[in-house]
Amino acid sequence: MIDKTISKKNILITGGAGFIGSHVVKRFVNKYPAYHVYNLDALTYAGNLENLIEIEGKDNYTFLKGDITDENYIKTIFKKYRFDGVIHLAAESHVDRSINDPLAFAKTNILGTMILLNAFITLWKENWLGKRFYHISTDEVYGTLGETGLFGETTPYDPNSPYSASKASSDHFVRAYGETYNLPYVITNCSNNYGANQFPEKLIPLFINNIIHNKPLPVYGDGNYTRDWLYVVDHAIAIDLVFHKGIDKETYNIGGFNEWKNIDLVKLLCRQMDEKLNRKEGSSARLITYVKDRPGHDLRYAIDATKINKELGWSPSVTFEEGLSKTIDWYLANEKWLGNVTSGAYQEYYELQYK
Ligand code: NAD
Ligand code: DAU
Repeated sequence: MIDKTISKKNILITGGAGFIGSHVVKRFVNKYPAYHVYNLDALTYAGNLENLIEIEGKDNYTFLKGDITDENYIKTIFKKYRFDGVIHLAAESHVDRSINDPLAFAKTNILGTMILLNAFITLWKENWLGKRFYHISTDEVYGTLGETGLFGETTPYDPNSPYSASKASSDHFVRAYGETYNLPYVITNCSNNYGANQFPEKLIPLFINNIIHNKPLPVYGDGNYTRDWLYVVDHAIAIDLVFHKGIDKETYNIGGFNEWKNIDLVKLLCRQMDEKLNRKEGSSARLITYVKDRPGHDLRYAIDATKINKELGWSPSVTFEEGLSKTIDWYLANEKWLGNVTSGAYQEYYELQYK
């Protein structure tokens, strides 16, 4: 188990220029000056250094541009910086893209994870005191729920999309390295996140951007799919807790206790947007357009977060209405960020996905 006291350590965070990773990097750099945080990110379409401007000059922070599938590069940086802890978030993360290009997901999410695992076990060779490999995963590995029930830590894996299959596979490798090489790992499986810095290919930021520009809101199928939404800052707080207080070789589920059918969420978003943009009530909802369903669309996700709540004292800090309102405010205040990430390749992606 990792040291209880915060001592000097080199921490590698992968995918720290992405949505969740940027919140985790900022939290660790600001809260733990004794740590040196190395943020390794390939800066794919989803990675954006603008997400990290507030900490980029800090003494305890270094950005490393690199790809987790580049084995030589990964070996070199592990030798050079001798990371005591790894918090692994780098991934291809969008289900729709995984349907169009599954191999890219296998490469980054499975092979990339294995390359990091190999580098970590080679470096420490069972000299594990104070070391930890923390793998960030998703509730999608459990597949889909019917109208009732919750995903617990022992729910069998049953992934339905190439994305969730690749994440499930990476979880299995982490666990297998724990059994075979005694790797001190923790895994968390979290529900849908929302908040600042999320790339506008995911439901909430895509719809915020479309409402701003009066574009149709493409609801897949009948809109009666259910997700459990968690404010990204609460996920970063949970990651901090699990990294420092979680038990080796344990899995923790993280969720918002906050289920919404897509169509109800979209209507709430429309109401909040009308108010904030001073538009006539009902104007955003008129943009709702039902479109072709996502193949293999999981009906419902909902997390039982009792374990992390009881054992580590974690629970979400904001209500969904508050979190959503803060999120909209962030996007409205950062239209330049939104404009930058939606120019160029985003237009091609949008055409392909929603033509
Ligand atoms: P994201 O797509 O916003 O960010 C992913 C980051 O990884 C980007 O900065 C990208 O540049 C980087 N990256 C991608 N491929 C890489 C590679 N080969 N080498 C190095 N860096 C690479 O993703 P996110 O939504 O922030 O998700 C982060 C992690 O959390 C993922 O592992 C995802 O599976 C998991 N997760 C996400 C959610 C969610 O709702 N977004 C929920 C549960 C778990
Ligand atoms: O559950 C955790 C997962 O949540 C993470 O592991 C993934 O990285 C993350 O992308 C997210 O997956 P989802 O597929 O649930 O998220 P997305 O925002 O793509 O879609 C949310 C719901 O909204 C889903 O039921 C599909 C629907 N949707 C999505 C888009 C982009 C639409 O109806 N229209 C859309 O245009």
